[in-house]
Amino acid sequence: MSTYDLIVIGAGPGGYVCAIRAAQLGLKVACVEGRETLGGTCLNVGCIPSKALLHASHMLHETHENFAKMGLIVPEVSVDWAKTQGYKAETVTGNTKGIEFLFKKNKIDWLKGWATIEAPGQVKVGDTTYETKNIVIATGSVPSSLKGVTVDNDAGVVVDSTGALALAKIPSSLVVIGAGVIGLELGSVYARLGTEVTVVEYLDAITPGMDGEVQKQFQKILTKQGLKFVLGAAVSGVETEGGKAKVNYTLKKDGSEQSVEAEVVLVATGRRPFVDGLGLDRLGVALTDRGFVQIDNHWQTNVPGIYAIGDAVPGPMLAHKAEDEGMAAAEAIAGKHGHVNYDVIPGVIYTTPEVASVGLTEEAAKATGRKIKVGKFPFMGNARAKALFQAEGFVKMIADADTDRVLGCHIIGPNAGEMIHEVCVAMEFGAAAQDIALTCHAHPTCSEAVREAALACGDGAIHA
Ligand code: NAI
Repeated sequence: MSTYDLIVIGAGPGGYVCAIRAAQLGLKVACVEGRETLGGTCLNVGCIPSKALLHASHMLHETHENFAKMGLIVPEVSVDWAKTQGYKAETVTGNTKGIEFLFKKNKIDWLKGWATIEAPGQVKVGDTTYETKNIVIATGSVPSSLKGVTVDNDAGVVVDSTGALALAKIPSSLVVIGAGVIGLELGSVYARLGTEVTVVEYLDAITPGMDGEVQKQFQKILTKQGLKFVLGAAVSGVETEGGKAKVNYTLKKDGSEQSVEAEVVLVATGRRPFVDGLGLDRLGVALTDRGFVQIDNHWQTNVPGIYAIGDAVPGPMLAHKAEDEGMAAAEAIAGKHGHVNYDVIPGVIYTTPEVASVGLTEEAAKATGRKIKVGKFPFMGNARAKALFQAEGFVKMIADADTDRVLGCHIIGPNAGEMIHEVCVAMEFGAAAQDIALTCHAHPTCSEAVREAALACGDGAIHA
């Protein structure tokens, strides 16, 4: 029986980062992972493979839409789907092997198998029980189920995100249930590959929780790219027959029953925390009414010595939020002061153009009752974005009207997911919009649009 300072359960971005930080702080660490490879959902069947397919399909889109405009004449480009899948697999393997290397480098033991917590301080993997001073639950999330819908990724007709990343062929038609991040990223992939994509969404707007103006502009851009939207539609079930599927839904505005057929249906209606098989009931670990593990300000559950982070606990289900919690929990366990600023967690949708946001939306800022300023700058006024054929979006900065402090920023435009970070740093330093406006930005860059939006919070943008 080995004795550890910390056993982390789950090697996704939350768990593996927690293990590495704890090892760096001098703890003896093991990480339990039952998958064949490290990295969790994000690296194996989530963020990373989807980014590979988004990149490949974006390149294809460029050849169709923009190459000729730039005088680049290529013969008809075709897709070898098996090779595309191979590129995706290589991207994943390169990263999962990287974590294995980091585990070795930091002397972290990978306990292969699925863990059960026998008691505080005891983790069982296979037939072996390991002793440990602390346990971190980093078991992530799984797609939530939808009443009347049976997902079967092997059959490849009604699939979740895992199945949609590995379809045997490019479908002629796809219905996506849910206009959230997963639905729109994967919907974009297949739309660019020539699939007819229809997105059926319960709410009256896409991407719930996002700034209203961004939602509208994003939907307009995606519609132009060929995605069809049915909003205000509650999916009641999916019928499959002869390798095809029919999605039934009720239109909220008139209560009418409608349906849409497709070769493949992607169910992307959210995810739920995954803590099955850990034995939390027996241990008396408190859960929220939605099944998340309850934690205190130091990521500790109500059972001393058992901590939880990432998708298994409340908050946005984002890999980088999990990573930050992983580091902070490790620091708390090592007797240091771990910290996560939940007010400054960026969110990115990796479509083209990208959509990125941090802090308060205009709606949420107004709801706080404070006076706000909104500075907006369209990428039409940004030379670089125009050269990239991606000038349809904008940067929207929200600042407190009295103090000028930046409260939030929303970007729909080229590389928005990279650009958002200057605003994150500014917000971490409690910056005013004027601080960003007075910072010299290189020309010509897309980031200049961020500065222009900050200028628009003051005396005005220059190029608008
Ligand atoms: P989501 O919560 O973002 O969106 C689900 C959508 O489905 C909602 O708009 C909801 O109104 C709709 N819906 C629910 N039931 C429905 C019904 N019966 N009929 C029609 N529509 C229905 O969930 P999603 O896209 O599955 O993503 C899960 C999690 O993974 C999210 O927390 C997301 O943030 C995260 N994620 C983040 C990524 C990123 O940061 N780029 C990429 C992929 C996932």
